[in-house]
Amino acid sequence: MKIIVLNQKGGAGKSTVSTNMAYCLAMSGKKTLLVDMDPQAHSSVIFCTDIPRNQTVNELLSSKAYKIDQVIYQAVVGENEEPVENLFIIPSNIHLAITAEQITTKIHREKLLHNHLKKIEQDFDFIIIDCPPTVNVLTINAIYTSELILIPTIYGRYSLDGIADLFRSIEDVKEASDFSYMILRNARDSRNKLSNVFVEEQLEPYKKNVLQTVIRRNEAINQAQMNSEPVMVFDPRSYGAEDFKELTEEILSYGS
Ligand SMILES: Nc1ncnc2c1ncn2[C@@H]1O[C@H](COP(=O)(O)OP(=O)(O)O)[C@@H](O)[C@H]1O
Ligand SMILES: [Mg+2]
Repeated sequence: MKIIVLNQKGGAGKSTVSTNMAYCLAMSGKKTLLVDMDPQAHSSVIFCTDIPRNQTVNELLSSKAYKIDQVIYQAVVGENEEPVENLFIIPSNIHLAITAEQITTKIHREKLLHNHLKKIEQDFDFIIIDCPPTVNVLTINAIYTSELILIPTIYGRYSLDGIADLFRSIEDVKEASDFSYMILRNARDSRNKLSNVFVEEQLEPYKKNVLQTVIRRNEAINQAQMNSEPVMVFDPRSYGAEDFKELTEEILSYGS
């Protein structure tokens, strides 16, 4: 299954969710590929100690000379670069931002990623795609190829602003109104009772599409990211690790 983690807002938890969910899926024995479509490369730094300079998703999308196998790496974690069984990554780099502008004029530009993934997707149980915080040609490539759209949203006054626009963009790309999506509530702080009630009310119209799992606000998640590690590696006993395991269980049972 190809899952994209999408929200045109920065800071909603896309990279946090992509990396931790990909790691947990791999730990459950599912062969998983994480594709970093964000030039900021926040997912790549978690699983590549050195981001390769000229064999990334950037070259894959910009040059016909590259085959997808050339940009797939075994994921590693920690200072000792321990390989993570079942987890692979296609990293991004900062030059992807320029490429995005260049491919905007290409024919079939929205299918570039899809056509590459077609060649290898049968080799993986899950492909997780981390999207940039904008709706651009990179996001459109991710939407085009997605089977499930996972939308993380944080608890805040404006967290659902723009969701209607996002849905319109998805409908345009998919040329359909019945795409599969799920909203994931992220960074809930149980002390903020009023804002939690507010956000739950805002989510009411979408409730069939809201995942049961809530990722709590948890400092270990933040520190793990600063340490360039999944939270399960940084602190396996944290709430963050617990919540991502629960999320993974829910994703594994999705559709079954
Ligand atoms: N549940 C959480 N608890 C604590 N910090 C979080 C949580 N989710 C995300 N963060 C922090 O918020 C920041 C933004 O998250 P990130 O995943 O990079 O967002 P995005 O990729 O959508 O821009 C990061 O510093 C991350 O560590
Ligand atoms: Mg990100």
